[in-house]
Amino acid sequence: MGKRERWRSRIGVILAAAGNAVGLGNILRFPSKAALYGGGAFMVPYFIAFLLMGLPLMIVEWVIGRYAGRHGHGSMTGILGLFFNHSNWSRILGSVGVAIPVLICMYYIYIESWTLGFAFLSLFNQIPAPVVSSDPHEAVRPYVSFFKDYTYPSILAYFFLLITIAINWVVLQRGVVRGIELIAKVGMPSILLFGIFLAIVALSTRDWAGVEGLKFIYNLNFSRITDPTVWIEASGQIFFTLSLGMGAIAVYASYVRPREDVVKAGFWTAGINEFIELVIGASIAIPAAFAMFSAVAIPELAKEGTFRLGFMTMPAVLMNLPFGGLVSFIWFFLLFLAALTSSLALIQPLIALFEDEMKWEHSKAVAVAMILVTIGAHFSAFVPHFIDELDFWAGCVMLLFFGLIEIIVFIWIFGIDNFYNELKQNCTIKLPKAFVYVIAFVSPLFLLFIIYFWVIKDFGKIIMVTESTKIIARVFIVLFLIFLSIIAVKSRKIILRDLRYTRIIKNKEP
Ligand code: PHE
Repeated sequence: MGKRERWRSRIGVILAAAGNAVGLGNILRFPSKAALYGGGAFMVPYFIAFLLMGLPLMIVEWVIGRYAGRHGHGSMTGILGLFFNHSNWSRILGSVGVAIPVLICMYYIYIESWTLGFAFLSLFNQIPAPVVSSDPHEAVRPYVSFFKDYTYPSILAYFFLLITIAINWVVLQRGVVRGIELIAKVGMPSILLFGIFLAIVALSTRDWAGVEGLKFIYNLNFSRITDPTVWIEASGQIFFTLSLGMGAIAVYASYVRPREDVVKAGFWTAGINEFIELVIGASIAIPAAFAMFSAVAIPELAKEGTFRLGFMTMPAVLMNLPFGGLVSFIWFFLLFLAALTSSLALIQPLIALFEDEMKWEHSKAVAVAMILVTIGAHFSAFVPHFIDELDFWAGCVMLLFFGLIEIIVFIWIFGIDNFYNELKQNCTIKLPKAFVYVIAFVSPLFLLFIIYFWVIKDFGKIIMVTESTKIIARVFIVLFLIFLSIIAVKSRKIILRDLRYTRIIKNKEP
C-alpha cells in the first residue's frame, strides 16, 4: 500500500482547511441568501444553526477524519466502511458522501471560471462602462446582458472553463502538500487582504451609504422565525459555507499527523470561515448594491440567482470608481482565489476514493477524477438549469441528509464514549462531554426538524417536474451515484484482501 501524504505544517493544515471552507459561498452565496430572506430575519436562524449544527459537525468531521486517516481511509466510502467491517451497504451509503462534493464541483468549477474570465475582462477594460441614470434597473442593465451573453456560454467562457479545469488539474497533480497546501498558503492571506480592501471600498461608496447595507444584515429580528423556508435556507448555508455534510473536511483531516490537535483545527476552520463570511462577505456585495441601487432593489436583484448577483451588480458599482477596471479585477480575482481553494477540496474526496480504496497511483486517480469533473462541467455549461438543479439537490438536500447519517454513524454507532475518547487525544482545548451530548441529541433533532418541515412544505411540489433539462440533471445525479456505488463494491475486495494481508503479517511477527 502506498504511503498516504501528510500536511507539512500546522499552519498549512489550518490554512488548507480554511481555504476549503472559504469560497464563493462566503462572498456570493451568503449575501444573496441574506438579502433574499430578510437580512436580520435570516441571521437569527443562521446563528442558531451555526451553534447547534455547524460547529458540532465541524468537530465531528475533524475527529473522524483523523481517526480514518490512521486506518488509511479518506473518502466517505472508506470511512463509513470502516465502521461496518466494510460491508457493501455501508460503502454504498458512503459513496453518497463522495458524490455530493463532486456533483457540487461540476457546477462550482464553471462559476469559478466566470470569476477568472471576468477578472481578465476587467483588467483589459472589456467590461461595459457605467450608465449614468437614477434608475437602478437602467444602471445595471448593460451588466446583466453582458453577463448573460458571456455565460450563454460564449467561446471566451468556454476557454476560461478549460483554463480553470487545467489549473485545478495541475494543483491536484502536485498533491496535498506541494499543491493544495501551497496554494492555500498564498491564497488565504491574499483573500484577507483583498477582502478587507474591497469591504472598505464598498462601505465607503457614496459617502458611506453602504453602511446601511450592513445594518440591513445585522438588524436581527424575529419576524420570520416561524417560516420553515428561512430555517432550511439558513441551515443549508451553514452546511455549504463550512463544507460540512459531505466528508470534504474529513478528507482534509485524514491527512493530518496522528498527533494533530483536531479540535483546535476545527475551531480555527470555523472561526476563519465565519470571520470572512460575517465581516468581509457581509460588507461587500450588499452594502455596495445598497449604496448604488437603494434598499428596494436588493431582493429583486438577489432573485437573479444565488451566485450570479455579484457578477452583475458588482461591476456596475465598481466601474463607477476611479480605476474601476482595476478594482473590478481585484474583486473577481479575490473570488477566483476563494473558489480555487474550495474546488480543490471538492475534488479531493474522489481522488482519495481512487487512491485509498482502488489503490490507484496518484496521476491516474487525478486524471480520472478530473475527466469526470470535466464531463459534468460541460453539462453545467450547456444544459440550462443544470447548475441550479445540482445546487438544490447536492448543495442543499443531500447535504442535510448526509449530515444526519454522519452523526448517527460517528456518534451513535461508534459510541458516545469512543467518540469522546478519540476527540480528547492530543487535544489542548478541554471540551466537556456535554458537547458530545449536544452533537448526539440536539444536532440530529434540529436536522430532523428541518427536513420534516421541508418535506411537508415543498417536497411534493419539487418532485413533480416536467422540464426536460431538470430531468436530465436528475438522471445525471442518479447515474453518478450508481457509478460510485459500483466502485464502492468493487474496491471492497481490495480492502478486505489488504486487511487479511496485514493480519497475516502481524501474526507472523514474534
Ligand atoms: N465551503 C465552500 C464555499 O463556501 C464550498 C465547499 C463546499 C467547498 C463543500 C468544499 C466542500 O464556497
